[in-house]
Amino acid sequence: MAVLKILQLTDLHILPHAGDTLLGVDTEYYFAQVLNAAFAQHGAFDLLLLTGDLGQDPAPDSYQRIARHLNRYATPCLCLPGNHDDWSLMQIELNVGKSSCRKHWVFPDWQIIGLNSQKPGCPGGYLTGEELDFLDRTLATCALPALLAVHHHCLASGSPWMDSMMIENGEELLRIAEKYPQVKAITCGHLHQEMEKRHRSIQIISAPASCFQFKPGATEFELDIRPPGYRVFELYSDGRLITACYRIDAEQPELRLDLNSY
Ligand SMILES: [Fe+2]
Repeated sequence: MAVLKILQLTDLHILPHAGDTLLGVDTEYYFAQVLNAAFAQHGAFDLLLLTGDLGQDPAPDSYQRIARHLNRYATPCLCLPGNHDDWSLMQIELNVGKSSCRKHWVFPDWQIIGLNSQKPGCPGGYLTGEELDFLDRTLATCALPALLAVHHHCLASGSPWMDSMMIENGEELLRIAEKYPQVKAITCGHLHQEMEKRHRSIQIISAPASCFQFKPGATEFELDIRPPGYRVFELYSDGRLITACYRIDAEQPELRLDLNSY
């Protein structure tokens, strides 16, 4: 049976200058490690899904360095913005080669729909009327099984400080998604940890960050010592979706807790 293989990477937090660190972590080094580990362990992918916070205080060079890492794998890549990103800059720097900011991808048996949940000047998320209309229209005209991707989470994760920064109008997203039985899952980033929940028949999931992790269930900002990771999807032609998260087998980043720098 045909299978579409997708690699989700999220929350790269690539800094403006190579070698810079955030919370003690060289984010670019770990992004490269995660990419390398995923391809080494799982072979080729049909699509890379980058679900936001690609850059931290982004500059053109941050995105150009991301594009250079991605180009080594010659795999189509869908890039979505997170609260730390500059979406206009992303659309210039990451619409090159195999990287793209196009939000609707149609494969023979599945469709992937990306959403922009940025709320300018705010760490939390919001879906504008335009974004919700785009989703509704796209699902109304394409009945293929659908995987939705968006940076912020739309269901509470159980971590109060993170849940104060979820999609403000997440229930509107769910209301549209549940109208269309072809929607199988909504995946996000932002949480820097794995989440697996369900809304009716829709899987609501997240991927670990490719840099530092946040502690599940923490009431306030707290780092987790777990290593960086990624999520793999296998989308089957009969509509089945199988997904799992993996962690890299690397030296732990030496975390430095600095509340002001994140
Ligand atoms: Fe992030």
